[in-house]
Amino acid sequence: MSSPPQNKVPFDDDPLWYKDAVFYEVHVRAFKDSNGDGIGDFRGLVEKLDYIEELGVTTLWLLPFYPSPLRDDGYDISDYTDVHPSYGSLEDFTVFLNEAHRRGLRVLTEIVLNHTSDLHPWFREARQSRDDAKRSWYVWNDTPDLYQAARIIFTDTERSNWTWDPGSKAYYWHRFFSHQPDLNYDNPSVREAIWSAMNFWLERGVDGFRLDAVPYLVERDGTSCENLPETHEVLKWLRRRLDESYSAKFLLAEANQWPSEVRAYFGSADECHMAFHFPLMPRMFMAMRLEDRKPIVEIMKQTPEIPEPCQWGVFLRNHDELTLEMVTDEERDYLYDEYARDSTMRLNVGIRRRLAPLLENDRRRIELMNGMLLSLPGSPIIYYGDEIGMGDNIYLGDRNGVRTPMQWSGGWNAGFSTADPERLYLPLISNPIYGYQALNVESQRRSLNSLFSWMKRVIKIRKSSRVFSRGSLNFLNPANHRALAYIRELGAEKVLAVNNLSDSAQAVELDLSRFAGFIPIEMFGGNPFPRISSRPYPLTLGPYQFFWFRLRRL
Ligand code: BGC
Repeated sequence: MSSPPQNKVPFDDDPLWYKDAVFYEVHVRAFKDSNGDGIGDFRGLVEKLDYIEELGVTTLWLLPFYPSPLRDDGYDISDYTDVHPSYGSLEDFTVFLNEAHRRGLRVLTEIVLNHTSDLHPWFREARQSRDDAKRSWYVWNDTPDLYQAARIIFTDTERSNWTWDPGSKAYYWHRFFSHQPDLNYDNPSVREAIWSAMNFWLERGVDGFRLDAVPYLVERDGTSCENLPETHEVLKWLRRRLDESYSAKFLLAEANQWPSEVRAYFGSADECHMAFHFPLMPRMFMAMRLEDRKPIVEIMKQTPEIPEPCQWGVFLRNHDELTLEMVTDEERDYLYDEYARDSTMRLNVGIRRRLAPLLENDRRRIELMNGMLLSLPGSPIIYYGDEIGMGDNIYLGDRNGVRTPMQWSGGWNAGFSTADPERLYLPLISNPIYGYQALNVESQRRSLNSLFSWMKRVIKIRKSSRVFSRGSLNFLNPANHRALAYIRELGAEKVLAVNNLSDSAQAVELDLSRFAGFIPIEMFGGNPFPRISSRPYPLTLGPYQFFWFRLRRL
């Protein structure tokens, strides 16, 4: 078979493009159904690319869309090189990719490295007998005693990381659901097979991968089986393979770890290009509730420098629970109390809610959180639906409550699908506050004052200067702890961000003497503020208000 045609991409080939990217996380299943079967698909996604372009994001991250029994919404892959029939065909994918690229949107897909579905032909074969050629592609043991120091991640459903296989009479290892056996990365054939899956999508033109659950690739007894040097070796090997054949492609590590551990996933710029900053996110929610900047400042101070070509991925919400693994026990209790009083809202070590409900649908808080997301270091990632303030349904199982259909209009099935409502893959949100009749893209497009219109604006401003994506960060230290103020700097470009984390008006005095003589230009309105002198610079901020100023020497 000849390899598929490469796309002509209308953006420059800056290999560091991901540093300036604004990501949009989309689930094909949830976005738009084109054939009326109640499930979103690639053709539907193509129909909505204009919307994504209008929002102003620059890169799409697609959740897994491969053949799968869908017991973990596609993170249980049964074929790495095809499209789930509910979502369309390989040809539909190629059309989508070309259409996205034509609009200047890059596309990031998922590679679930750590495990497959138990229905993947590799595992089906491996479990047939102890002598099977594929046996050593997975991790087996006669007893469940090995690797006891490894924690359980899905604490609500799993009791052990080992599951008994009655057919071949042995235990297999899995860090997630018991239907997701871990691949054995000590076996070079596994590495080759995964690289060949990645290569398959790279040949089709994808721009990069989110590497799911990377800390757990290799196991060693007596360790936590996380972040092992052998795991980093595997990643370095994959990166070498990537660099040998391609340029301007990238890898994003999902390593839900402390910043000092995540640092290793960048290597010496020879491992992943980007990694999520997991610990920052809960601390933003905490700072807002405490009305104190300390949690944010402290975690950023603990965040090590990363190699120049690398970048953090920052986010407020995603398709999973709001994970509280990277906080102390005390902080976790506090966040549960403040954000998930109802125990139905809790899942594993986290909170299964969307952004708007977490913030009690308070527009000022939603704006402030997004403002910080877009002005702190890192490439921001916006979760589909959060740009219009979509709600959730905590009564749906697992994490489904934050994965409901996108709300396009107040009409039939929110404009998502022509199917009977009963047939939708998940029910729409239909309560009086977040229901699609009231909250949808169509109505928000009509109002200049809507969250959607505001998000478009703030993203545009963020993209107007690389200081946000590439600039240094220096916190100011005003006496008023309810204010979080920082300077971002890139060459001559300087931006001052000031955020009021509290529910009441605040006065703050900033030491800006370094910039004496400069004039702050407020970036939303373009208006000049009083000139900075060597004396403390006074500002007043309304509840949850924030300012971005360009500092200009006029
Ligand atoms: C994904 C989850 C998934 C898990 C197991 C995570 O990192 O984000 O949605 O359930 O990996 O694949």
